[in-house]
Amino acid sequence: MLAGGDDETAELHRGSGDPGRAGAVLVLQRPLRTPAKILIVGIGAGDEAGWRAAGAAAVRAVPADEALHVVLPAGVDPAAVRGLAEGMWLAAYRFRDAVVGPRSVEVTLRTSDLDGYAQSLETARVTATATWLARDLTNMPASVKNPAWFAGQVVDEAAARPGLTVTVRDTDRLRAEGFGGLLAVGGGSATPPCLVEVAWRPEGATRHVVLVGKGVTFDTGGISIKTRDGMKLMKKDMGGAAAIIAATLGAADLGVPVRITALAPLAENAVSGSAFRPGDVITQWDGTTTETTNSDAEGRLLLADVLAYAVAELDPDVLIDVATLTGANSVALGGRTAALYSHDDELAAALETAGRAAGEQMWRLPLPDDYVDYLHSDIADRHSSPVRGAGSVVAALFLREFIGDRTDRWAHLDMSAPAWSEEHDGDLTKGATGWGVRTLLRYLNT
Ligand code: BES
Ligand code: MN
Ligand code: ZN
Repeated sequence: MLAGGDDETAELHRGSGDPGRAGAVLVLQRPLRTPAKILIVGIGAGDEAGWRAAGAAAVRAVPADEALHVVLPAGVDPAAVRGLAEGMWLAAYRFRDAVVGPRSVEVTLRTSDLDGYAQSLETARVTATATWLARDLTNMPASVKNPAWFAGQVVDEAAARPGLTVTVRDTDRLRAEGFGGLLAVGGGSATPPCLVEVAWRPEGATRHVVLVGKGVTFDTGGISIKTRDGMKLMKKDMGGAAAIIAATLGAADLGVPVRITALAPLAENAVSGSAFRPGDVITQWDGTTTETTNSDAEGRLLLADVLAYAVAELDPDVLIDVATLTGANSVALGGRTAALYSHDDELAAALETAGRAAGEQMWRLPLPDDYVDYLHSDIADRHSSPVRGAGSVVAALFLREFIGDRTDRWAHLDMSAPAWSEEHDGDLTKGATGWGVRTLLRYLNT
């Protein structure tokens, strides 16, 4: 891959009429010569995103048994090198237990200034590694990935990184502490629910960011069972938990000077005689009672507990939750864009900026007062699954009820749609995307 490059490449490029669209690949075959192929890859506007697309495209264009030598133009921006490396690593991902097996391409970067790019490469490596972890966790079949297994993965990953502590609350402790929503959702499963808490407390940190992620290891819908089609991808329903955990591990790798607490309520929403029922009333962590008429609206119940706990016990400066919360996310915004909700313009803008730079899309939606009445219940403090109103918005409004006086420093990301990709697409690989890791890591690191 050459930008700039020698006469031969320049001629090829000129003759091609190719405008250099980001990620466009031109292959020049050179039989009996070395190198045997030259790839010219478009970098678009030449910004980080353009280089990221180029990196992803280059890696895809090279067969696994061939080596790739990248000739960097002199003086290229460190951000470009970060984009290039991140694009390559993200696109090279394969789920480790899949038939395809892990894929590796040998890549050599040729530059006169390796030192100048060391930090870019390290940041790219950490970002991609964290995204890989989130993808691995999300791609793992739910037969393996029960709450205890997931918690074990977090414990193992955290053990390899100094400065992180992990607390896992088991069912007894959840009961003693009143996590009624999490217990209700996980009550129908043969594998009990738990709450994973990861703490990163660097010395001198002045800000505390609390991250909460929905960790439903499989969502059958419960007694309000899903359709066959609606259920088939529901192993991905812990994508939010995977994203916040992976981002926190990544932040530790980068030594981010911010205190972070990541909370992942883990449960399987199963169908059985011990499952919670439509019409049940649940007492949430903060004592609020909620009437549940649809056991498929389970995510908000376990998030409500944990958000209330975070506000009351952890004194967050910023509280962000990430969840595959509603099918309505894709109805409103399509397959690649998360819905962002917040009353805090500054926080919303910071997340949007981080997402844009990181290559993850989100769109801010409102929290309108006219839907609040829909949360009324005749028999409990709140109704958790109103049938009126826009689904993703009403779910966000329900969560807001549990933020107490922190509504001004809270953001909610409904990432049901972008958590999964039906095909290889640029830096996304087919299956779990790890959506959120890149945005959160950028946000935490700036
Ligand atoms: N996990 C689903 C949301 C989902 C749907 C994620 C499709 C990814 C793809 C969630 O628990 C759910 O079932 N939500 C319901 C809410 C409804 C019952 C109020 C939904 O969106 O239909
Ligand atoms: Mn559900
Ligand atoms: Zn769900």
